[in-house]
This record gives sequence, C-alpha cells and structure tokens, in this order.
Amino acid sequence: MKKYQHYINGEWTDASSKDLIPVVNPANEEIIGEVTCAKDEDINQAVESAKKAYESRILVDMNPMERAKLMRRIAEELRKVSKEGGALLCAENGKLLAASEYEFIDAANYFDYYSGLTDKIEGQTIPVNSQVMDYTVYEPYGVSGHIVPWNFPIAMIARSLACSFAAGNSTVIKPAELTPLATTSYFAQAIHNAEVPKGLINIVTGYGSEAGAALTAHPDVAQITFTGSVKTGKAILHAAAERAVPAVVELGGKSAAVVLPDADIDKVVNATKVGIFSQAGQICSAMSRMIVHKSIKDEVLEKLSKLATSIKVGPGDEEGVDLTPVISEEQLQKVENYARSGLQAGAKAVSGGNRVDRKGFFFEPTIYSDVKPDMTIAQEEIFGPFLSVLDYEDHEEAIHIANDTDYGLAAGVFTKDVDMATKTASRLNGGQVYVNSWFTGSIATPFGGYKQSGYSREKGQQAIKSYLQLKNVGIQL
Ligand code: NAI
Ligand code: MG
Repeated sequence: MKKYQHYINGEWTDASSKDLIPVVNPANEEIIGEVTCAKDEDINQAVESAKKAYESRILVDMNPMERAKLMRRIAEELRKVSKEGGALLCAENGKLLAASEYEFIDAANYFDYYSGLTDKIEGQTIPVNSQVMDYTVYEPYGVSGHIVPWNFPIAMIARSLACSFAAGNSTVIKPAELTPLATTSYFAQAIHNAEVPKGLINIVTGYGSEAGAALTAHPDVAQITFTGSVKTGKAILHAAAERAVPAVVELGGKSAAVVLPDADIDKVVNATKVGIFSQAGQICSAMSRMIVHKSIKDEVLEKLSKLATSIKVGPGDEEGVDLTPVISEEQLQKVENYARSGLQAGAKAVSGGNRVDRKGFFFEPTIYSDVKPDMTIAQEEIFGPFLSVLDYEDHEEAIHIANDTDYGLAAGVFTKDVDMATKTASRLNGGQVYVNSWFTGSIATPFGGYKQSGYSREKGQQAIKSYLQLKNVGIQL
C-alpha cells in the first residue's frame, strides 16, 4: 500500500506517530493509499517551519515582480501534473476525471490571477496636518493556517493559498482526511518543482479534531482560513476568537432557484443538471432547492423527471457518466436518511431516493416535489444529488421561502423579464445570485455567504485583504 507523507520545510516526512489514515476510493470502496497522521508535535513542526520562513523575510522582502514570477512558476508546474494528479484525485474523491484534472488547471489559474496582484498592494497617504506625513501599508499576518474540505481538495487550497502567498504569508495546509493523496503528492510536487523556498508552504495531514484543531489553536498561527460545514466553521471561529486572530470562513448552503411563471424551462433543466447533479451535489453552492410557480409546476416536474432518467450513474473515470458517487459511506447514509425523512414528512419522489445497488457510494439522482418550507429536507444541507422542489403562488411568497433558511450562500432566479430578474436578485439573501443559469462565477468574482454561510469573501481582487493587515505610519516632520 502506498504511503503518503507530510510536506514540511521542503521535504516529505513521516509523522511522529505510526498512525496511518486509510483513503478509500468512493467508486469501489477499495483502499488506495494511506496517509501519515499528524499529532500536535507534527503541527508544531510545520508551524515552526512556516514561522522560520516568514521571519527570514524571503517572501516578504522579495521584489513583487519576483514573487509574481514564482507564483506563475507554481501555476506552470500545477498544469504539468494535471493529468496524473487528476487521476489520483478522481480515485480518492470520486468526481469526474475531467473535473479532477481541471482542479489542477483551476489551481494554476488561481496562482496566475493572484500573481497579478503582488505589485498592486497599495497603501494611502493621509493628510493629518502640515507637520505630519502619514501613510498606510498593507502587511501580511505571518503564518496562515488553511483547513481544506474534501469536495474540491486542490481548488480550495489554491483559492486561499494563492491569495495568502501573493500577500506574503507563509502557510500550513491541512487537507481533509478523506482526500489527502493528490495534495501531498502531485500538489506538493508542483510546489517543490517550482522551487518555492523551504517552509513557505507546508502540508500536514490528519484528522480534523486532532490536526485541524491543533493548527487553529497554535499560538503562532496568525490567520486561519476554513471551508466546510457550519458546525466545524463555528468551532474554528471559537478557536480563533480564543486567540483573537482573524478567520476566513466559507460554510455550507441551501441555495434556492426561484422559477418565475415565464421561465425558459429548458434553461431550468440544464441548470439543475449542473447545479445539483454535478459532483453528486457535494458543492457548497449547489442548487439544492427549487421554488417553482404553481402554474408551471407540472411541466417543470415532468422535464426534471426526464432529466433524472437520462442521468448516467457511474465512476468518475467512465465515459459518459454524469453522476458520480458521494464521498463516503457516512455521507451516503446521511443522504439516505434525508431521503427517508422527506417521504415521512409528506414529500413525493419524482425520481430516486435510494442508494444504487452496486459497490461504491452511489445514490440515485433524487428529486422530491411537494416539499414544504419547514421540512428538514428544505432546511438542512444534504450535500448529495438531492433536489427539493417547493411551489408558490405569488412572488413575495417565493422570496420568503427562498430566504427562510439559516443559510445564504447562493440563490438563483429564472425569468425572461429583466426587471423581475433584478428585482428578485435584490431581494434574495445570498452572496451570489445566478440568473437563468447556475455557477456563473469565475476566479475574478467575489464568493462568500450571507447569514450562517459565513461572512468572508474569497476570489476576486478584494479577497487579498483577508490576508493583509493595515499599518499606519505617522512621521513628525
Ligand atoms: P467538516 O467541515 O467537518 O470538515 C472540513 C475540514 O475541517 C476537514 O479538513 C476536517 O478535517 C476539518 N475539521 C473537522 N473538524 C475540525 C476541528 N474541530 N478543527 C479544525 N478542523 C476541523 O466536514 P465533514 O465532517 O467532512 O462533512 C460533514 C458535512 O459538512 C457534509 O455532509 C456537508 O454537509 C458539509 N460540508 C460542506 C462543505 C462545503 O463546502 N460547504 C465541504 C465539506 C463538508
Ligand atoms: Mg466533521
């Protein structure tokens, strides 16, 4: 069995303990590798390495143009490993092979994008009085700790790492224990091949409750970035508050598409296919609810049912597959429990609702209609290929239902009327609103949540501010 190691101070190393974490291929339930498991000692070592690198000022004092070049070298190396890295990512995560390879490309794009900001971190001069010269500078925090989820193991690292690196921080990354293999091998190799100075980027694998908690509690970690569940996000915010350090948190969602009576139903169906069935619905901004006007409900449900029938379930590396497995047996169980509870509560299965009878963590493409706003399946993040369809009569009611959850990550509206589109977009509580589509964003567009979906914004130019602190300097002339 291949063993994967930490990447600390520019070297692959074992953990202090002999414990290993087995990693399972969700498509066939086979163990495909083991990863070394960090305890406090290993976290200390990684943070120490990042701190030393930071204090050497090698990145901070690097000419911004040189820092940009280094980042573009990382991008180039990430592109080089996208095929092999993608194959391993596909095996450990279960997502489509093309999507797995694309994560490395996407990661490269993050480094390219943020490389353009290294020489644009500008302060201000502030008029105080004629005897004082006052200016501001943005400075990095020091050591930045990144806790990564399993749904986009490589892209989620790059999203925060490229930004924090462009700002001049050193980083310790803790991948999710379910998907650490492509990160500790191909991703680390790309960093290594790009000749990133030792200690600037460190990767330690381990369990969230041990390694993740130790990283967030470490006194030398000056800033924390987390993407994942609301529950863990809150634990991390508590830990950050304990030490009064800032945290970037991007949490879950229960995002709703509002379908107005004049909507182009084919667009609704296409958006559903990518919105809730790509990556088996395990996307924080997935379209997990649809709120359809009663007048078109039957037509929409009929077309959605056809969509579900047309969806091919299978492993990510098989030709023509649309729906891949969920990440784990635990996740499969969770989705199945929601499916049962939905029926008990009175929802109707338009399609699916069961695990697929084969090896691997496959769940049927599932669409439930007649869902009521107070049902659990309308309120909680399921994180599976599961769409809850609700209906409404007047526009205000639709807005109310859409906003009536604890989450506020994404939302959508389908209509041909641009006035109704903008009016609806302005009323939906979500960090991003998609009109007549789903997932329209790019690296350049800010991404984050309203309400319990978090309050940070990642991606786009302003995200770099999360990795910088502001200093004011006053000179008495
Ligand atoms: P999680 O949020 O617990 O795990 C995400 C990351 O946090 C992993 O790297 C994990 O090791 C780490 N972590 C866990 N507990 C920690 C702690 N106390 N301190 C520091 N780090 C910690 O998510 P999990 O348990 O894998 O999945 C549970 C549910 O969370 C899913 O069913 C899904 O609903 C949701 N989820 C949402 C994601 C999103 O992007 N919105 C991503 C992953 C999970
Ligand atoms: Mg957890």
